[in-house]
Amino acid sequence: MKISTVVGNASRMDVDALVVVAGEGGKLVGAGQEVDAASGGSIQRLLANGEISTKVGKSTLLYHLPGVAAKCVVVAGGGDGGNEKPGVVSRIAGSAAKRLSDRKRATVAFSIGCQDTDVLVSAIAAAINGASGQDLFRSEKNINPFGELLWLDQNPVALRIGSAVGNSMLLARELVNLPPNYIYPETFARRAAEVALSSGLELEIWDELRLRRERCDSLLSVAAGSTRPPRLVVLRYRGKKQSRPLAIVGKGVTFDSGGLSIKPTESMVTMKCDMAGAATVLATMQAVATLELDNPVIGLVGLVENMLGGGAYKLGDVLTARSGKTIEVLNTDAEGRLVLADVLDVACQDQPAAIIDLATLTGACVVALGTDVAGAMTNNEELQNRVLGAAKACGELVWPLPMFAHFDEQIQSQVADIKNIGDGRWGGAITAAKFLEQFVGNTPWVHLDIAGPAFNDKPKSHQDAGGTGCLVNTLVKLISTW
Ligand code: BES
Ligand code: MN
Ligand code: ZN
Repeated sequence: MKISTVVGNASRMDVDALVVVAGEGGKLVGAGQEVDAASGGSIQRLLANGEISTKVGKSTLLYHLPGVAAKCVVVAGGGDGGNEKPGVVSRIAGSAAKRLSDRKRATVAFSIGCQDTDVLVSAIAAAINGASGQDLFRSEKNINPFGELLWLDQNPVALRIGSAVGNSMLLARELVNLPPNYIYPETFARRAAEVALSSGLELEIWDELRLRRERCDSLLSVAAGSTRPPRLVVLRYRGKKQSRPLAIVGKGVTFDSGGLSIKPTESMVTMKCDMAGAATVLATMQAVATLELDNPVIGLVGLVENMLGGGAYKLGDVLTARSGKTIEVLNTDAEGRLVLADVLDVACQDQPAAIIDLATLTGACVVALGTDVAGAMTNNEELQNRVLGAAKACGELVWPLPMFAHFDEQIQSQVADIKNIGDGRWGGAITAAKFLEQFVGNTPWVHLDIAGPAFNDKPKSHQDAGGTGCLVNTLVKLISTW
């Protein structure tokens, strides 16, 4: 979405819609006061009469305001002055944008009366994303992106970062929302190549032959049940700082049927979302390159389709991962960790300063933390605290789960080095993380299980259902402050 900044009197701007914010007690912020004054106090009167809701997530549309050039003024509910919090301000901006996306609008201007850069970045990204939906294949759209988004609060740094983050979130969401007959390992890799070319990233695509030569038997076994060949994509951003890179690694299961341990329909129906980790990595790499950040970053994604064709891997199979570790397969639906085992090993080869992986890895993480919170698991609490700090600054929800040593017992196998599931389902998010930990050596590492927040089953006030673009903002923040 095209986004730019304008200066001048908000009340004189000839735009299709102008968004201002009113908090509890009718407190107008930013251009709201100026617009209210120009209209002879019309907004204040409506607020006093209770015609305008100040609840976060509510938007009231006002037409024909006297003395105001905009065709429509939107008063977005600002809540109880939570104006300082990035999560709340994102919901305020996102809901107003979503409300206005009900039909085509060429120019929409926002003034949320906020100066803090982190808060503004999140709000701008949210406004871009509020006006974009999952209805990619509907001839008549429910959600219509704006022709142009104008931002009135003057902060060029926030505008630049917010646009890059917001647009990269759109990329992540589009990749998640595209159905599995459109996005499979080869087409995802092709999109990655296009992104690399347009944003100036170095790119390597490993095809099946290369994966075989590299002994990625764990990843290849998951892919074996599908007619779609797997891919491993490596994206490199050099940056100008001469230091060891940060590696970000994504699970890219373009469809997870469960394999021979097949999922029931209700669980399988949204499994196009199982490449959200990979989409987040690609989107983040795009934003990092667009923003020309200083720090070197490597993005790696493992792309497979988990199916049950005649070549499918089986219960009882023993796989030899690229690292040499042997794995007993006791459930083919615990496939994400098998893919990541090899990708994490490839990541270690570049001797990164740290590894962050993102994966829609376990239903257990959603049971533990709910649908809106990502789980963090680590072998290095200092690194994890940096990730949690970046998330907090962006208003994104990430919470740690413990990696106590006794969980390791659960992945011991009688026939191989480890097995791919724990004993029973309790603590399933953690036993999955314990499995991954086996493949990062001594590298500081944080695993982010995004099975909950990566995909919304239902629309929210600030964003459509489907892919969410979660954690792109957090990763960009982490990388830029590394
Ligand atoms: N892709 C799923 C996890 C998932 C669940 C993502 C819900 C998004 C929403 C993963 O591959 C999976 O199937 N995990 C199993 C692991 C189990 C077999 C140990 C699960 O969570 O049931
Ligand atoms: Mn699975
Ligand atoms: Zn999966």
